[in-house]
Amino acid sequence: MHTTIPAGLTRKQAELFAKLDPERLPRHIGIIMDGNGRWAKRRHLPRIAGHKRGVTAVRDVVTLASNINLPALTLYAFSAENWKRPKTEINFLMALLRTYLKNEVPLMNEHNIQLRYIGRIHELAPEVQERMAWATEQTARNTGMIMTLALNYGGRAELIDAFQSIVRAAANNGGLEHLKIDEELVSRHLYSNLPDPDMVIRTSGEMRLSNFLLWQLAYSEIYVTQTLWPDFTGADLLEAIADFQKRERRYGNVGAAV
Ligand code: IPE
Ligand code: IPE
Ligand code: MG
Repeated sequence: MHTTIPAGLTRKQAELFAKLDPERLPRHIGIIMDGNGRWAKRRHLPRIAGHKRGVTAVRDVVTLASNINLPALTLYAFSAENWKRPKTEINFLMALLRTYLKNEVPLMNEHNIQLRYIGRIHELAPEVQERMAWATEQTARNTGMIMTLALNYGGRAELIDAFQSIVRAAANNGGLEHLKIDEELVSRHLYSNLPDPDMVIRTSGEMRLSNFLLWQLAYSEIYVTQTLWPDFTGADLLEAIADFQKRERRYGNVGAAV
């Protein structure tokens, strides 16, 4: 079978893409971008140097994902637990986010990318929220890949917010008596209405979810790489997709081989 190689890929990316089954690309990938601090430490640089380099990785991965027409990409950028970090590091991350949004909007528009967010956005500093609102506004008319940044995001916080939203909606609709709670209802009250990620990637080798998309990852394929986030590339994303395509997703059923 001859695969049409999408435009814009590097030679290496094209070679990797040619080995994929274009009919079975994931619809949604989530990435836990981890290892910036260790990347910097190995180079005897301050942690913030790792975060800065992490932006380069984001650019490469987002460009590739958009070029191969991935419908949705969700990036874990700042967790609800990351407030425990030193104030200087948090301030740097927030400043980096603002710079990132300002600089990357043209690339997003060039690639027809829609930018969205999940997390308790209202708790972020006003100047951060302002830049975020500006960037979504600038990309709102795009129709390509949906890129979601998880910011001040926690999976448990999202579920708590969903339950609160369900109760509020029920109270406004004649009370809790006839409330029927099922998966569809919970899903509908989460931060976004995207399909669940088919695959979640974590860089830097940690084998944990760190409160990322707890509900949505119930049946996602997990891919952990030792590569630290600043070193992760679009080509690495294609390798992760190749691995994904080797998996058999059983959803509790018996396998095809049985
Ligand atoms: C991920 O890299 C970036 C954020 C969580 C914001 P880390 O900063 O967690 O890097 P390590 O895990 O310390 O190497
Ligand atoms: C998860 O990484 C959060 C993000 C990548 C934004 P952490 O580095 O915060 O996770 P833990 O603390 O090692 O679990
Ligand atoms: Mg980390």
